[in-house]
Amino acid sequence: MALDKPYLDVPGTTIFDADQSRKGYWLNQFCMSLMKAENRERFKKDEAAYLTEWPMTDEQRAAVRARDLNWMMRTGGNIYFLSKLGATDGLSFQQMAGSMTGMTEQQYRDMMVHGGRSPEGNRYQGEGGDAQGPMSRSDAWMAWEKSHGSDLAEQVLAAEATAGKAADPAAHARITASVYSSHVPAIGAAIDHGKTEEPYWKPLFAGFEPSKQWMKEHMPDVVFLVYNDHATNFDLGVIPTFAIGTAAEFQPADEGYGPRPVPMVMGHPKLASHIAQSVIQQDFDLTLVNELKVDHGLTVPMNLLFGSPAAWPCKVIPFHVNVVQYPVPSGKRCFQLGQAIRRAIESYDEPLNVQIWGTGGMSHQLQGPRAGLINAEWDNRFLDRLIADPADLSTMPHIDYVREAGSEGIELVMWLIARGAMSDVAGSGKPPRVAHRFFHVPASNTAVGHLILENQL
Ligand code: DHB
Ligand code: FE
Repeated sequence: MALDKPYLDVPGTTIFDADQSRKGYWLNQFCMSLMKAENRERFKKDEAAYLTEWPMTDEQRAAVRARDLNWMMRTGGNIYFLSKLGATDGLSFQQMAGSMTGMTEQQYRDMMVHGGRSPEGNRYQGEGGDAQGPMSRSDAWMAWEKSHGSDLAEQVLAAEATAGKAADPAAHARITASVYSSHVPAIGAAIDHGKTEEPYWKPLFAGFEPSKQWMKEHMPDVVFLVYNDHATNFDLGVIPTFAIGTAAEFQPADEGYGPRPVPMVMGHPKLASHIAQSVIQQDFDLTLVNELKVDHGLTVPMNLLFGSPAAWPCKVIPFHVNVVQYPVPSGKRCFQLGQAIRRAIESYDEPLNVQIWGTGGMSHQLQGPRAGLINAEWDNRFLDRLIADPADLSTMPHIDYVREAGSEGIELVMWLIARGAMSDVAGSGKPPRVAHRFFHVPASNTAVGHLILENQL
């Protein structure tokens, strides 16, 4: 089922949603660059040269050169971004807004002075109001359409929208399994420096051999990967509780040792945007992240499950959960979020095989005189309960994680997101099949836990 977009038939109105944002990404980023005086200077000196520095479409560049705001919005621009261009030209918001209406500046000002435009007749397309006519267009836009046909970006989105839908109208994405794994940076270093055969590391990597085999036989199209950023992409400037990566690719971050020598992580912008819209409409507030560098929290589990290929074998949607600065989300909230993510994924009109991974944990404490805390018994009980009674497990308060599994053991709340997305929780399947379970102490400061749960229809 496609997402509800009731705003599409409001006349003379473009709602800036994920589709618009994808289309207009570089146009809007170019506009943002004009918030620096030196950039405004360079742009004014040679517009064409400045515009070639931004990977926009030729049409977007032409729309900017024509200063046609309707055209820019049509190609994905948003007024708050475009206003930076207007401000560079010395325009007020009233001048910018008025320029899109087909009125002169004076007419528009007069309309506002007389109480503004009435919504009467302007709520739905096809009514008789004064905002129903064709949108005002510059000569440049009309000339462009004559020589280039209709909007290329629109065609790309339209092609995307129909891709995969043709064969079976009932087809939709499915979550086939959930995978859980710890994510210690030293595991990544052991891989990167060829130490996996050393006695310290060998038993750990041996525990993931069956998983790599299983993964080869159950390779998904997309992994929805729940992880936490460790003060890598997000510093103390902005701390999102839940953030979804909506970009086409994600660079491995430099966490201070240089970036890990692992391939670029390829995203799935269209599915990610769909999930974002669906989950937000289910009343969960997500941060949308179009630029995201991924740290060991994401890349280490990928190595453990995929090995070290030249390119990652499937697409990945990174989903970050704040477990660094309190308040962090409760287990209960995470479990409910997993259920919302399931509904979002299963409402996507393309027959994709999707896995959801929960990463981080298990018991570990990286700080203070209590560093080194491990609670193997508690961890194994957590695994038992995650498999058999996740709803009950999700009610466990934070303080229990901290006291029993160490301050960094709180990462385990992320596993509840993945578990909440399984079909038995939705009441539409049998309890999951445990395809693999593994536990090992230590990796660096951490107890490593790992599970593969297959959905049973
Ligand atoms: C370690 C574990 C982590 O989860 C992490 O994010 C950083 C370090 C460790 O055990 O060293
Ligand atoms: Fe961690």
